[in-house]
Order: sequence, then structure tokens, then C-alpha cells
Amino acid sequence: MLALADSSLLKDAPYINGEWVRPADADLLPVTNPATGAELVSLAQAGREHAVAAIEAADAALPAWSALPGKERSKRLRDWYDLIVANVDDLARILTAEQGKPLPEARGEILYGAAFFEWYAEEAKRVYGETIPAPSPDQRLLVLRQPIGVCAAITPWNFPMAMIPRKAAPALAAGCTMVLKPASATPLSALALAELAGRAGIPPGVFSVVPGRASVVGDELVANPIVRKVTFTGSTEVGRMLMAKAADTIKKVSLELGGNAPVLVFDDADIDVAVQGAVASKFRNMGQTCVCANRIYAQAGIYDEFVERFSKAVSALTVGDGFDEGVEQGPLIDEAAVQKTEEHLSDAVAQGATVVAGGSRHALGGTFFQPTVVSGATPSMLVAHEETFGPLAPVFRFETEEEAIKLANDTEYGLASYFFTRDNARIWRVGEALEFGIVGVNTGIFSYEGAPFGGVKASGIGREGSHHGIDEFLEIKYLCVAGISA
Ligand code: SIN
Repeated sequence: MLALADSSLLKDAPYINGEWVRPADADLLPVTNPATGAELVSLAQAGREHAVAAIEAADAALPAWSALPGKERSKRLRDWYDLIVANVDDLARILTAEQGKPLPEARGEILYGAAFFEWYAEEAKRVYGETIPAPSPDQRLLVLRQPIGVCAAITPWNFPMAMIPRKAAPALAAGCTMVLKPASATPLSALALAELAGRAGIPPGVFSVVPGRASVVGDELVANPIVRKVTFTGSTEVGRMLMAKAADTIKKVSLELGGNAPVLVFDDADIDVAVQGAVASKFRNMGQTCVCANRIYAQAGIYDEFVERFSKAVSALTVGDGFDEGVEQGPLIDEAAVQKTEEHLSDAVAQGATVVAGGSRHALGGTFFQPTVVSGATPSMLVAHEETFGPLAPVFRFETEEEAIKLANDTEYGLASYFFTRDNARIWRVGEALEFGIVGVNTGIFSYEGAPFGGVKASGIGREGSHHGIDEFLEIKYLCVAGISA
């Protein structure tokens, strides 16, 4: 049993219309700790009827929630934020237990996620409209921004907590209601958040959580005509299917999908900063984020030095159970994730890459894998085209800035990119030429609730965070008022 100061945060059933629903004949799913395989809870999964009930409750709650003054919605979101911060230690323990990331990183995720409630609690008061100069003295033209309605959110296992506020906070701030389906591997953080939502005075039906099978619960959320908006974080493959399905009922969609992030290290970079940034980006969450560096390109003049210093830093990373002191890299989420990392590694080696750090499963067994670096990577390798989503860093060599930009942009994806240089003019040239929604310059970490997160091309549609994030949950209404001078 997971030790928590407040054990009532560990839930094992859907949260629908303000109630915990655990039918006697529920379809049970064991939720396990990826570091040990131990069962954390036997989860009662939601079925289609539960998804429908949650959607209908969200619809019933919508008029009252959207009619509340923004200042009142703001207060509830702020209370939710305060409760998350007050319970950060328990929430971090739940997150590490279900997902595997080291406890300090889990704590960071809880606070990062909570900050979206803090940010959008403020934005709830600032959903401004517009006036337009009319073409006639008899008219006044106005633009209202109104909540889109009932929203569905589908969130991934790599950030079991933070991906929820990124969607729920702007939605609720805008006056929408939401039904959430968390990933089956990591539903417990979402359920703990639902418990805190109730304590924060979020009314029944405004935020429900329905963990269950994607083919049942996810399907209902995307197909049901009451739902007006679907917001999803996950793979491009699933995003494509959701978008096609949402087209049947012309739902608005926001999609935060896969990446294949390049890191460019130029000859004029500060190598210490570049090594630190590349490690931070590549090995965050054991390489399991959509913005993790997937391809590292180092310029010929510093290539050998960069590879040597980078592989030394990577070899020094401590692997272990996320609950153990000093651990920096936990287990991968499952066996499939290990196999994909192995497949990319063996393909790179077969095509001539050299392993310079790690290179195999970790002695701890299970889904632990050694943080790995290969040098001599080339464009024909799988790692150049596909997101590994694991702790494998391939280093490619390039000669010129033009070549580096071409290589970086040579992908169907366009979420995050990074580059390291001390040349001010190059910062502008390369920053503007990279075809990605996010560009980190001289840093491996950029995520912040006040900045817009999202991609272009096959990496998705829409932005999360910042003042742009709330637009995803608002419709524009044009009001033409005539008869003023009559
Ligand atoms: C993601 O991988 O989708 C999210 C990463 C972040 O918010 O920094």
C-alpha cells in the first residue's frame, strides 16, 4: 500500500457528477508501479454508460457554471491550485508510483501542472470582447467570446498530472465543463485531482474523470454530439484517428502530438551549456516526452569534444526506483517502450553508429534501461525519422548552418527544437528558419504556463498555456445591433 499523509487521495473508481462510482460488476484493471510491478489499486474502469453519464452531467452543469461571473470561477480555480500545492508531497508520491519518474521530478510536475490553475484563475477574469466601428450610424457591432460548451480531454501517461490542468484550467476558466479520460496506465493522478476539485468547490458535473478503454470511453467522448470540443495529448497516429472521428460531428479539436526534436550545437556554442541543455532535454522523464531531443546535430569543429563531454554527463546519470534518494532516471513505462529503444539502438549500430555511453537494458532488470549515447548517426537510421521516446541519444555531424537547418526541418513533425550558439545574428536566422512551434535557444527546458506550447505540421493543432490557451475553449459571436438612431 502506498504510504500517503492523506490516503483518501488514492482512488480506484471513476468520478462522475461529483460522485465516486464503483459498481459491483465493474471491469477491473490493476494499476501497477513500473519500477516494481506491484499493484497499487484495482481500478474500476468506466464503461460507455459511464462516459455518457459524465457527458450528460457536464451538459447539465454547463448553464450554471458558464453563467458564474469570471471572478467566481477564478476563485474556485485558485482554491483548486492551493489544494494541489498543499498536497504536493502526496500527489508526487502517487505520480512516481504509477509512472516511475523520480520523486523530485514528479514534485516538479505537480507544481508545473498546478501553475496552470493559478494562471487561468487570473485569465477567467479577462475574457474580453471587442467593439468594431460600424459602417452605419444606426448600428453598433460587438464581438462576444463565449464558452464552447462541453469539452472532452484525453491525456497521456508520460505526464499523468500536468497535462490535465493544461486542458482543464483554460476550459473551466472560459466557462466550459469537461470530461476527462486519463491514460489507462496512469489514472491515479487524475483521480486525485478530481478529489481535490470536489474539495475546491468545483460543482458536480463540471469536471468528471472516466478512466477506461480508449475503444469504449475514448470513442464515446469523441463521437457524442453533446461534446463540442476534444483536446488530446498523445501520438500523431491516435491524434489522426481522433480528428477523423471528430469530423463526424464537426467538433473543434486541439491536438498536441508527437515530435522528433532536433538539437543543433554550433561550433560557437558554450559547450557546457550545450551539454547541460542536451542532457536536460533528452533525459527528462527518461526520454519520454514529446519535446525530448530525438536527434542531436553537432558541428564538425566541436563534434568530438561535444560527444566526449555529453557521453560523460550521460554516463553519470543515476538509474533506479524513483522513490530512491539521488535517482535521476526511473524505469520506462512498459516493455514495449524498452523494445522500441532497443530497436532504434540496434538499427543505428547495424548502420555504423558507435555506442559511447550505456547501450543496453540496465542491470536492475524490468523496464530499466541505461541512458545511452551513440555517435556517428546518419540520416538513414530509424532514430533520424521516428521518435524513440526512450533514453537513446544519437549524435549526428554537420558542416554548415544551412545544412543544419535543412536536416532539422527534414521531418513531418514540428513541435520542439533547440539550438546552441553564442552568435546573436545566428540566433535570429536559425530561430526564424526552424519549422517548429517551439524553439529553445541555449536551453533544454522551456515549459512554462505563461508561454504557448504546441506544434505545427504532424505535431498538432492549437496551443496550451499562456493567454492563447483559453482561445481554444471559446467561440466568437458577432452581435450586430441596429436601430440605435431610431
Ligand atoms: C509533453 O511532452 O507533451 C509535455 C512536455 C512539457 O509540458 O514540457
